[in-house]
Amino acid sequence: MGIREQWQSRWGFILAAAGSAVGLGNLWGFAYRASEGGGAAFLLLYILIVLIVCLPVLVAEMVLGRSTGSSALLAPVKAAGDRWGLLGWLFVIAPLGIGSYYAVLMGWTLDTFFHALFVGLPSNISEAEMFFGSISSGTSVLLGQLVSLLLTAAVVAAGIRGGIERLTRWGMPILFALLLILAIWAATLTGTWEGYRTFLLKIDVNQFFNPSTIRNAFTQAFFSLSLGIGIMVTYSSYLDKRKQLPKEALSVASLDTAVGLLAGMITFPIVMSFGLKEVISGSTVGTLFISLPTGLGTLGVTGRVVAILFFALAYIAAITSSISLLEVPVSSIMDRLGWNRSKAVFVSTTLLFILGIPSAMNLNLLGKIDSIFGGVLLILGGFVLSIFLGWIVPRKFDEDLSECNSNIRVRRYLKFMLRWVSPPIIAFGLIVSVIDLVKNWSA
Ligand code: TRP
Repeated sequence: MGIREQWQSRWGFILAAAGSAVGLGNLWGFAYRASEGGGAAFLLLYILIVLIVCLPVLVAEMVLGRSTGSSALLAPVKAAGDRWGLLGWLFVIAPLGIGSYYAVLMGWTLDTFFHALFVGLPSNISEAEMFFGSISSGTSVLLGQLVSLLLTAAVVAAGIRGGIERLTRWGMPILFALLLILAIWAATLTGTWEGYRTFLLKIDVNQFFNPSTIRNAFTQAFFSLSLGIGIMVTYSSYLDKRKQLPKEALSVASLDTAVGLLAGMITFPIVMSFGLKEVISGSTVGTLFISLPTGLGTLGVTGRVVAILFFALAYIAAITSSISLLEVPVSSIMDRLGWNRSKAVFVSTTLLFILGIPSAMNLNLLGKIDSIFGGVLLILGGFVLSIFLGWIVPRKFDEDLSECNSNIRVRRYLKFMLRWVSPPIIAFGLIVSVIDLVKNWSA
């Protein structure tokens, strides 16, 4: 096997990692979780979890990748021996699970984009629901899923620099620009303040104790940061020793959270100004694809332009995330079996397509697979990661961070958090989430 590829520039890595983080989770996931009733309590919990719990874990994941220079499958074994092989498998299985339905969501996004572009927007809620029904079933959903997977595969096949870094380097700036323009536009709507207030500012203290709100906040934090299952391990394995990881982690987390908030400042005013609040709470996974186009539909040409921009933005966000999901199995296969990139991409993509068919056919199932692979497993992964780098191989953590000359106080702080703070809080989040999930499913 040849020499391992490396990112071309510091920004190449940050934009790629931020590209992985910023995705449908920030737009679709944030909108639907925030609308499940947690309000500002959900938002506050989510931000606290990111700051207190996720940041140290993010650094830990990066350290694991860089210090071993291995794919997610092999990194734990390389760091601590064969006994940790299972962790490597968790790191590969979870992205496969997420990647399978992520392509389905991308398909919906693409269909909605084309519909807004060529046909127009729905004129009322029932029309929107009918349209969503048509894109989320039958051959049209499979087609959208397939096209999205093929696009993703094409980028990953072109490699780290030639594919992933190149796409994120132009995609992310466009995404940020579009997001800002749309947020400014949304600030001028009549229902804007009502929207901010209802979803982002109104704190209902009881919600802090609502298990579903707690689960939503943990899930949103981990999912949105692409944390807990080896994405950051994989991306960091292509990183050289000079980069100061704590700083990179902070940039990635800030960009991701900023995008989540900005996205909320776009979606919620739209939902509120067109009196769609009731609708949003009635449908969960379809929120973004039903109420948004309906709201925008009442605004004539402006609404249509906004919808086209928004779904274009969503698709860019999604593809910079889906490439990270595909890169995990691809790099693991290359590492483990010594295959070349194209063959690994072909096999992984085919696998993702097949695994995604059940979710494509059944909305309910998609929601369930999301709560397991995109929820509980990430929180579990985050828990194991903090134990792993905080207690099992703490030397790796120290060595790697001192090699890149990161500030000693920052390093001490991170290690303290990783050992004493993250594990109990994540364990709490995990237990609450599992119980809440079981209760919801058996209800
Ligand atoms: N973070 C991405 C989003 O917000 C999705 C994603 C990509 C992801 N890779 C991941 C989620 C790894 C969890 C783990 O849409």
